Amino acid sequence: MTAPTGYKTRRTFAIISHPDAGKTTLTEKLLLNSGAIHLAGEVKERGERRRTRSDWMEIEQKRGISITSSVMTFEHDGLTLNLLDTPGHADFSEDTYRTLTAVDSAIMVLDAAKGIEAQTRKLFEVCRMRDIPIITFVNKIDREARDTLEILDEIMETLALDTAPMMWPVGAGVDFSGLIDLERGRFIAPDGKPETDAPGVEAIAERYGATQNQQIAASMEGLELSRESLPKFDQAAFEEGTLTPVYFGSALKSIGVRELLEAVCKFAPEPRTQPAAPQPVEPGDPACTGFVFKVQANMDPNHRDRVAFVRVASGTLKRGMRLKNVRSGKDLKVANPMFFFARERELADEAVAGDVVGIPNHGTLSVGDTLTDGEDVTVTGIPNFAPELLRRVHLSDASKTKQLAKALSDLAEEGVVQVFKPTLGSGYYVGAVGPLQLEVLTSRAQAEYSVPIRIEPAQYVTARWVKVNNAAQFEKFAAIHRLNIAEDRYGDPVFLAPSQWEIDRCAKDYPELEFMATKDRG
Ligand code: G4P
Repeated sequence: MTAPTGYKTRRTFAIISHPDAGKTTLTEKLLLNSGAIHLAGEVKERGERRRTRSDWMEIEQKRGISITSSVMTFEHDGLTLNLLDTPGHADFSEDTYRTLTAVDSAIMVLDAAKGIEAQTRKLFEVCRMRDIPIITFVNKIDREARDTLEILDEIMETLALDTAPMMWPVGAGVDFSGLIDLERGRFIAPDGKPETDAPGVEAIAERYGATQNQQIAASMEGLELSRESLPKFDQAAFEEGTLTPVYFGSALKSIGVRELLEAVCKFAPEPRTQPAAPQPVEPGDPACTGFVFKVQANMDPNHRDRVAFVRVASGTLKRGMRLKNVRSGKDLKVANPMFFFARERELADEAVAGDVVGIPNHGTLSVGDTLTDGEDVTVTGIPNFAPELLRRVHLSDASKTKQLAKALSDLAEEGVVQVFKPTLGSGYYVGAVGPLQLEVLTSRAQAEYSVPIRIEPAQYVTARWVKVNNAAQFEKFAAIHRLNIAEDRYGDPVFLAPSQWEIDRCAKDYPELEFMATKDRG
């Protein structure tokens, strides 16, 4: 086995944003700019259909549509860019978190009028946990926007992240008069076309009559202030995740998008070292290692097939090779790995670190699994989160117990919900981040497994994984809380908690048990 180097041309990233900030529009414009698609509307259409709840359910049932956007591979400037889609709906943030374990950098899209919003902050925190470098794109500059310095301040204050403006908007909304490309010292006209000259502040003011226009004058004043007070771009600080270069533009009007794409090519890091046990996986390691960060079922509605999305972490994945699933110990022949492009998919003959391939399988691969043809190793940091909603599953047709077990197991494997089986008594509890997940569960159990279920309130508010550092203490705890103990789908113990107070009390009473709100699958 020789050490591969092809990974050096890979840039694998995601776009994080609050719904409506413009992620879908920006994705489309990035693809248009790179020549991966030729018509506006191809991605947008999907985004729109995804937006409303009823349409979303329909799409979920038809499948095949959302899959194409799970990963989009395209080329630019001699590089292969893998853009991983993060589901926009807040209910599916768990899926989003896991997707972020498979990227090396992210573009954070902000709405220029709204700044940092709730979902932006949540997603940012996940990036921070993993030190993922962030490029910021302040979108919708063609509409009324907040003051540029104020936006930069907000990023610094709420995210504790240094900002280095790479562009400076001159005015916004109806007064939008172009962008100053601070990096290259040139001017980008209001229609998004770069001009060759590098006008000074005075020249712009003169050109656009800044003396008469207060907004433009304020923009220029802000630029002067920023020059004194803000740091310059620094690649090392960016890669450490402590500084973000900030771009401005309008995805809708294709302003500043080309410059953003160029920034990804120039600054986004190569595939990273993947945290793993017993030791991290280096992208240049000769052994092929990859991990599953997402599973999508029923891409072909006639067969109950599923596609596991695998991010290659090291070596070269070749079609037809055998990889070991470290969790189950079983070998898997990778017969038909697939690449996903903006509009089509293709058999993947070879993939290197940073690439994402879809591997069709019949339930042998789960989220968090590590595959390798080298020494046993398990990629870490792919979390499960304590559910914000915990509900009981009521089976309306008692003759279907077996089918229910199968449906819950399959859907949990896909990450639709988490399933907890109490160690005493029968029945199941399911955990979700949001109510839409529970609706999807009910509808898919009926449609795909003919299992009629009802979701009922539970007497518990949340669940905590119990990390047992002392078996005797766990025995004692389990004897007292028999009715609150369940297993997750890996057989790990879970405490079904009636209140936060109870969790705190147990943590105090049983100091050698840890009650964890997230579980790392590694
Ligand atoms: P999302 O994926 O982050 O949820 O956002 P999406 O791209 O779907 O954009 C949300 C809305 O914001 C859309 O408007 C879109 O057209 C608009 N938008 C995106 N980028 C820009 C921009 O740079 N400038 C302006 N002015 N608007 C932008 P919509 O009314 O919901 O849809 P549509 O009717 O415009 O398609």
